[in-house]
Formats: sequence, C-alpha cells, structure tokens
Amino acid sequence: MKAYEIREAFGIDHLAITGQVTPTPGHGQAVVRVRAVSLNYRDLMVVKGLYNPHIHLPFTPFSDGAGEVVSIGEGVSRVKVGDRVAGIFMQDWLAGEMTEAKQKSALGGGGQGMLAEYVALSEDGLVHIPGHLSYEEAATLPCAAVTAWHAVIETGLRPGDRVLLLGTGGVSLFSLQFARLAGAEVFITSHSAEKLERAVNLGAAQGINYRAVPDWGRRVLEMTGGAGVDLVVEVGGAGTLPQSIEAVRTGGRISLIGVLTGTAGEINPLPIVMKKICLQGIFVGSREMFESMNKAIVLHRLQPVVDRAFSFGEVRDALRYMESGSHFGKICVSVP
Ligand SMILES: NC(=O)c1ccc[n+]([C@@H]2O[C@H](COP(=O)([O-])OP(=O)(O)OC[C@H]3O[C@@H](n4cnc5c(N)ncnc54)[C@H](OP(=O)(O)O)[C@@H]3O)[C@@H](O)[C@H]2O)c1
Repeated sequence: MKAYEIREAFGIDHLAITGQVTPTPGHGQAVVRVRAVSLNYRDLMVVKGLYNPHIHLPFTPFSDGAGEVVSIGEGVSRVKVGDRVAGIFMQDWLAGEMTEAKQKSALGGGGQGMLAEYVALSEDGLVHIPGHLSYEEAATLPCAAVTAWHAVIETGLRPGDRVLLLGTGGVSLFSLQFARLAGAEVFITSHSAEKLERAVNLGAAQGINYRAVPDWGRRVLEMTGGAGVDLVVEVGGAGTLPQSIEAVRTGGRISLIGVLTGTAGEINPLPIVMKKICLQGIFVGSREMFESMNKAIVLHRLQPVVDRAFSFGEVRDALRYMESGSHFGKICVSVP
C-alpha cells in the first residue's frame, strides 16, 4: 500500500509517498481503508518539526481520517466489514477524564498516522460516521470538531449566551456551527472581510476584522453593551489572549485551545482574578464526546465546512495551502 512518511528530516519537502506492507488486523483491531484525511494546524507543526522535534523518523503523520472497515481481527464486535468509520484522536481516551497516558495515544504525533491507504486501529479507537457525510466531510471530525464540541457544548453553553470566536479556521467554524445549534449569539474575528461575510452567512451575528481593529476585545465589549461575552474559544494563544480577556464578561469562560500566534508573551493575570474568569485548557476530547457530537450532527444534518479537497498526490500543496492561511474551514485530502 501507499503511505506518506517524513523520512530523513522534518519539513514539508521531506514528506513523500512510500510503499509499505498493508496491515492485517491483530486481536481487537480493524483495518480501515482510508478514503479521506483532513488537515489540522497540528499536522503542519508536526511535519515542520515544531510540534515535537524529538519524534523518531521516519513516521506517517496526520491524526484525522475516515474510511471503510475492510477486515477485522479476533474478538472484534464494535465494528464489522463495510462499516464507515473514523479514528478517534486519542485512541485510548474513551470516556471520563483525560490522563497523560491517554494523551500519549494521539494519532499522527509520531506513532500511527492516518496519511496512508490502510491503517490498523483498535476497534475501541473507532466511531461510526454520520450517514449523510462524505468521507471528506467525516474526516474533518476527529480533532477540530470534537475540540469545538468540547469547548462549546461540554463546557455548558446555554441558549442566549454570547460566544467569541477567533479566525475562520477549522476549530472556529465548527464552534460557530455548534454554538448556533445551542442557540448562542456568535461574534467572530478574521483578517478578511470576505471570510467575515461568509461567517455571517453561516449564522454569526457580527464580525470584526482583527487587523483593522487591533483592540478587538474592546470592540466586542461595545457590541455587547459593555457586558462582554460568556465564552471565548481561544485559538490564538499568547498574541490574542489579552484581547480575549478584555472581551469576556465578568464570571465568563475562556476555552484555551490553540497557539496560532505563538506561546511567547506576557499575560497579566490580574484581570483574570478581578473578572473571576474561568480559563480552561481543552485538548480535543473523548470518544464519548465524539459520539454525542455525531448524534447532534445527524439530528441537525450539520454539514462541515470543507474549503477544498486535494488529491492524495497533493498533500504537500495542501499543507502549503494551510500555511498560507487562505482557507475557510477545513482542508481535506481524498485517498483514491
Ligand atoms: N487543544 C486542542 O485540542 C486543539 C485542537 C485543534 C486545534 N488546536 C489548535 O488551535 C489552533 C487552530 O487550529 P485550526 O486547526 O482551527 O487552525 P486552522 O484551520 O489553520 O485555522 C487558522 C485560522 O486562524 C486564524 N488566525 C490566524 N492568526 C490569527 C490571529 N492572530 N487572530 C485571530 N485569528 C487568527 C486565521 O483565520 P482568518 O483567515 O479568518 O483570519 C486562520 O485561517 C491551532 O493553534 C491548533 O494547533 C488545538
């Protein structure tokens, strides 16, 4: 079978297709014929050696993929041949709290990755995908959608709450869709007027251009009559957190998810104390969360926002496209 590997060194140019032995299922495992994968910002960082420079090379990257079960090992009962499935991000986080051990079972960070024609995964590490979604759409779910679900729904958002989202990438657009399902009012930032218009068409109440309005936290306060938002889904990191702290209401919550602007910078903790802000780190989510989310996706026939699907031979172009920041929502790769 064909699979991508990062071989002798990190970097997009070192990602290449190799011939590998097609896996056979061990006890409790299913072999999945991968039909599509999706890209996450983490995959870009992994490939460039910025996520964990100590990963042992060569390895197959990417955490998110969907496909069809083609064979099962002894003792498998959760899935059968022909089932349409996706892998869960942390293979061992099925329910309950995350632990360090469960965290280490994440796909595509040095161990098993999904950028291959076939993968063998534990039956426990698979979920059935919603029937109305294409493989490309379903491949967007394991990381970005589950993270958004965790950040928006599992933290207790209520109808009428106000939510602030940063940028129009994968996590933010799923957060927009889930926040609207929950009856929340959504504010969103972007560097692009055209993307803001598209976000409003998806249900956002108002958009702010974060380049034109660098103190967008204050603008959000004005837009909410001085009150601030109940929840910020923080994907920016050190460069955006001060504005997010400004934008959130007293007693509000910030779900801390990403570091798009980096990790270096000074944060003044005083407003977090004085505004009694709940600042919570979110790291994707469990299989239980994934399955709850899928029920909502089916019920509302929710359609993930796929910007573009590249072909299997164009993975390097897909990563460069993500790097350019031109995308709106998710970038996928179809696996023939
Ligand atoms: N903790 C977790 O479990 C978890 C899970 C998934 C992702 N993440 C992290 O969350 C972040 C987002 O991931 P993603 O996959 O959604 O990325 P993505 O799809 O690549 O989205 C990137 C988008 O973020 C926006 N952006 C960039 N710089 C910004 C800034 N200074 N202020 C506001 N928005 C900015 C841009 O939107 P515009 O083009 O509209 O300006 C850009 O298109 C990454 O850091 C990723 O590693 C964490």
